[in-house]
Amino acid sequence: MKAHMITYGCQMNEYDTHLVQSQLVSFGADLVDSIDEADFVLVNTCAVRGKPVDKVRSLLGQLRKVKSQRPLVVGMMGCLAQLEEGQQMARKFEVDVLLGPGSLLDIGAALESNGRFWGLQFKDELHEHIPPSPQGKLQAHLTIMRGCDHHCTYCIVPTTRGPQVSRSPDDILRELDTQLAAGVQEVTLLGQNVNAYGVDGGARLAGYPSFADLLRLVGRSGVRRIKFTTSHPMNFTEDVAAAMAETPAVCDFVHLPVQSGSSRVLRRMAREYSRQEYLGHIAAIKKHLPNVVLATDIIVGFPGETEEDFQETLSLYDEVGYDSAYMFIYSPRPGTPSYKHFADLPRELKTERLQRLILKQKEWSKLRNAGKVGTVQEVLLRGDAHSEGFLEGHTRGNHPTVVPRAVGADGAGVYPVLIGHSTPHMLYGQIVGADGQPLPEIPRLEPQAAALSRPLQMA
Ligand code: 5AD
Ligand code: SF4
Repeated sequence: MKAHMITYGCQMNEYDTHLVQSQLVSFGADLVDSIDEADFVLVNTCAVRGKPVDKVRSLLGQLRKVKSQRPLVVGMMGCLAQLEEGQQMARKFEVDVLLGPGSLLDIGAALESNGRFWGLQFKDELHEHIPPSPQGKLQAHLTIMRGCDHHCTYCIVPTTRGPQVSRSPDDILRELDTQLAAGVQEVTLLGQNVNAYGVDGGARLAGYPSFADLLRLVGRSGVRRIKFTTSHPMNFTEDVAAAMAETPAVCDFVHLPVQSGSSRVLRRMAREYSRQEYLGHIAAIKKHLPNVVLATDIIVGFPGETEEDFQETLSLYDEVGYDSAYMFIYSPRPGTPSYKHFADLPRELKTERLQRLILKQKEWSKLRNAGKVGTVQEVLLRGDAHSEGFLEGHTRGNHPTVVPRAVGADGAGVYPVLIGHSTPHMLYGQIVGADGQPLPEIPRLEPQAAALSRPLQMA
């Protein structure tokens, strides 16, 4: 069988795609790079906003067309598959295999069923399953918990991914070992709310460390860099900041979604903290980590958001001075409390606020990135950038960075980079040697010279 997977959504979905791909390979499938080559296409879906849902709808329409012309098995997995909205879509577009986020290990049974297979149960075996490490990659994700016990009024995730279930520390450390053995240098601990690790349904699990202690444990494994995402401010204790400060491998990077700067809106979102409490968390983080890089998520145009509320979001941005932010227009999701109870604001108003917020973000990202010019950053280079002769990667603070290939450092790896130039979205630098001096660049061929140097095609 030739299988092709298409992934929408968050890092958790990327992790799940890798997990299912490794299952497919263990069942004898070949992974292929396009729909054309495949006889099984599996779409990993996201339901958090209307846009990713629309993308899946149009892709499924396209796949139904292909299916009418040749044999093809179509599958849908992930958050949208768990919802009635997704299941209606699956019926309409003749989807054969449907797997909810809790039933990914049913992929084997689905393949054997040779026809229609729907799996929507949350199965415990998923938490114990250890997927093989991604091969040849310096970075890996590691799921430490699934689901969410919060009930933000705009969010569909508690419905799609169910209540929080933490993975055992033994399983986490065993998976980390396989990643280290495969050469992974940066691991990102994943969960909808990693700070609540080990406290499922409000009760601490016997034998499970706190998230802060898990960071300390993972820090002793020898992995070079540790990141984590995502954190709910409500569960961000000062001990997490202290653990970050005393564990050298943990990067000074915190992604702490605020969603709004207005306490009134935060209450309507049921976020369980006020603007002041959020700023208190930021102050505690900055106390322990004076050079911390901060990122956030913000929703604009939540129902009932006034201009004054929005101004509070802008002023909070200035108070924190984030390096980066993911910014979203509020998207009413069927099945959420805010969809049921609150009226959506006009589209133009939401768009106009988003544009103003983007300007604010650019201002800060420009300033923050400019502050890195002249410093040496540890950059994990993943490989070739879009422009020929350049490599791309990111710093410990997650800043995208581009460098020219250098003699002795011409591929993936972790290198010290002297930053020479910046834009709001990118740092540009040169790899430096032990003496702090830039390594000699590998000369780039002019496009014409490159064409001439290709071997001649024989007729
Ligand atoms: N509309 C817009 N953005 C949303 N998010 C979650 N639900 C919605 C929604 N209904 C955003 C939040 C969250 C991120 C993953 O997606 O900012 O942190
Ligand atoms: Fe990830 Fe949330 Fe989208 Fe599910 S709905 S894929 S958890 S962002």
